[in-house]
Amino acid sequence: MFDRPAILGGPKAFAEGVPLCRPAVAPWEEAAPELEKMYRSGWLTKGPYLQAFEEKMADLLQVKHVIGLGSCTGGLILGLQALGINKPGGEVIVPSFSFMATFHAIWWNNLKPVFVDCEPDTFTVDIAEIEKAVNKNTVAIAAVGVFGNAPDFEGLEALSEKYSLPLFFDSAHGLGTIYKGRPLGGHGSFEVFSLSATKLLTGGEGGLLTTNDDRVAAHVRAGRDYGNPGSYDCPSIGLNARMAEANAIIASKSADYLESYAEHRNKVAETYKNGLADLPGLSFQKIREGCRSSYKDFAILAGPEFGIERDVLAKALNAEGVPSRAYFNPPGHKLSCYAYAAEGVKLPVTERISASVICPPIFSRMDLQTVSGICEVFHKLYAYRDELK
Ligand SMILES: Cc1ncc(COP(=O)(O)O)c(C=O)c1O
Repeated sequence: MFDRPAILGGPKAFAEGVPLCRPAVAPWEEAAPELEKMYRSGWLTKGPYLQAFEEKMADLLQVKHVIGLGSCTGGLILGLQALGINKPGGEVIVPSFSFMATFHAIWWNNLKPVFVDCEPDTFTVDIAEIEKAVNKNTVAIAAVGVFGNAPDFEGLEALSEKYSLPLFFDSAHGLGTIYKGRPLGGHGSFEVFSLSATKLLTGGEGGLLTTNDDRVAAHVRAGRDYGNPGSYDCPSIGLNARMAEANAIIASKSADYLESYAEHRNKVAETYKNGLADLPGLSFQKIREGCRSSYKDFAILAGPEFGIERDVLAKALNAEGVPSRAYFNPPGHKLSCYAYAAEGVKLPVTERISASVICPPIFSRMDLQTVSGICEVFHKLYAYRDELK
């Protein structure tokens, strides 16, 4: 028998609370000498450590160009600008099941997001839905590697060729993902990765744009520096989107641990799946054939058969000391700021997933016993589901 759930007056399962996420970085002793050297040198930005980090990541991701940035959002904005597709009324087809930054980059380029549905199992964009949305105003296609899963790279690349439309990938969650034996980084016109603190590889903040296209790379390099190619005469308008040396050092040292972080997260995901397998109504994101996900997040769908509605479940978990997130809710086409672009848009798969998704804690050094303990909490809540209604 289980104790009563904490939300119904029982004892809290995790008295201290479990963190939702705990950033993993290289041991201090490994980063400290270079951080100190950089600090004492007074060369805090645009220096040798960023360049070395970019070279290291190009090697690791097996891609020609890696450009270190202040954020993934900056990479999305500049990468899209580099495609030179900005025309009045231009539309970018984008999966609605993503983080707001994917859509914002389209807006910052004076383009309109056209939201499409995702696949019910992988949560990545449904290419049949993209094809339905293509029209004479379409200027590009965006895809997202949701939670570290691989989108249908081959299908998307074929579609991009068929309609002669540039394709880019928001791979914000994709450091640590392996697809068909290779890390991500070389797909489409460019990919972007986030190095913010919730990701497998972090520099505190930061982003990477990766591309095999020399022209895109040159544009983004100048673009992260206001659009200044060095002569102070800007051919295009950029941002300050640089990555500082301290961020580059932290991320570079931590990159040595990226594979071990991804392997461990896969163990965490397996422990969740095994621990929750016998609960009715719960299902998990399906990882695409040939993909080893980074598991930036572990996503559970709480369907009607589970008997506890998602928001009630989140509250009851939280009372036990188990925080969670409903990623991505609301989805793009339901965000207030995109009402102008989404009038009458109905995306049944995205809406169903957004209404039932719940992401419990996962981090790169998470103790598997804690994961089992969280599974126990799910069992307890299920046992009391009628009282939680
Ligand atoms: C799918 C997606 N795209 C873009 C971003 C933005 O990344 P950043 O915070 O590095 O700008 C995030 C952030 O988590 C994200 O989840």
